[in-house]
Amino acid sequence: MIAKVRLAVVGLGAQGKQHIQSFELLDFDNAELVAVVDLDKNLTDEIAKITGARAYSDIDKFFKDASDFCDAVILCVPNKLHCEFVLNAISAGLHVLTEKPIAISLEECDRMIAAAESADKRFMVSHNLLFYEPHRVITSMIKSGDIARPHEFRTRLTCGDMYGSWRDQVDMCGGGLLIDSGAHRFYTARQMMGEVKSVTAWLDTANPRLVGDETGFVVLEFEEGGVGLIDSTFHAPGLVFDDLIELVSRDGTIWIPGSEAEYLSSWSHPPVVTGSDIVINRTGVGGHWEVIDTPKDDWAKSVAKSARHFASCILGHEEPITSAYEGRKNLAVLEAAYLSGMERRAVDVAEVG
Ligand SMILES: NC(=O)c1ccc[n+]([C@@H]2O[C@H](COP(=O)([O-])OP(=O)(O)OC[C@H]3O[C@@H](n4cnc5c(N)ncnc54)[C@H](O)[C@@H]3O)[C@@H](O)[C@H]2O)c1
Repeated sequence: MIAKVRLAVVGLGAQGKQHIQSFELLDFDNAELVAVVDLDKNLTDEIAKITGARAYSDIDKFFKDASDFCDAVILCVPNKLHCEFVLNAISAGLHVLTEKPIAISLEECDRMIAAAESADKRFMVSHNLLFYEPHRVITSMIKSGDIARPHEFRTRLTCGDMYGSWRDQVDMCGGGLLIDSGAHRFYTARQMMGEVKSVTAWLDTANPRLVGDETGFVVLEFEEGGVGLIDSTFHAPGLVFDDLIELVSRDGTIWIPGSEAEYLSSWSHPPVVTGSDIVINRTGVGGHWEVIDTPKDDWAKSVAKSARHFASCILGHEEPITSAYEGRKNLAVLEAAYLSGMERRAVDVAEVG
């Protein structure tokens, strides 16, 4: 059994760089960075110089050589490439952590999962906010009955003009805002409220697979009861990115400041609640907002924890929280939302996936 997983990061844009920073943010006693891969040779050379990892700007050559010096990859390439790169990595004998969304269709998920199972490789998805402390704290309070099960879950996905490049190309993204950044909202809703039974969505496009959705209201009906709302829009000013969460329980109204909004200081509400604390108003009236203290955390650390969890699972020290099956379940809820928006009807998740 290896002591440290030898990792490569493929795709060195915003998220690839974030994963590389992970090695500094947390104590990675279970993994080391051995290669950095991107089409952009200047970028690979620059990052290799800083990290001491090998540089590859020829992806085919990387997959050909990889098994000699590498155990696993973290894929941070545009969404459309996830499936092809996952299959190539598994064929090259590597374990894989792919960024969200796991893929852009359920058919791709099934092919990737079958390949990983037959090669006996770990195949996981980076649902990093499952590791974010405020989300874990509130989830455990709900599960333990410390607060009555919320009747309502609401989250914002409010973005200004921060996105561009491949995200504006619907074939590269797989859709619009909901399949991309929306992936986090779906799994966070499922983390706190359990599995989704059915979805009813209003989208600003009749076919999000052809014209990416820019604004949507997605209503989730949970199997264990309660209702969720994801409201998403690209039509906010400037650099806004807000992912605030509100839960309404008989025991209180709870606000969890958005993890990315906090990290970027880009929230779109008045700064009444910031930091990684959760606030609860137990009476429901007046100004009695009480802080539920949580271990300090931030979005970047949640990315690092996701990568560290992947390495730990490869070493057999942990069982995957963020398995490919979890990624597939999450994508099925998105598929139901897209179908609902297109056909203007409620869609049971079981119907799509
Ligand atoms: N978990 C999160 O919070 C989070 C945040 C941002 C992005 N993401 C995900 O990470 C992935 C990458 O997003 P990003 O924001 O870093 O995009 P980006 O555009 O900043 O970076 C993408 C990188 O991939 C490289 N690339 C493109 N085609 C390639 C190929 N054929 N071979 C090798 N490299 C190639 C590009 O050169 C670029 O450096 C996406 O799947 C996105 O959804 C996740």
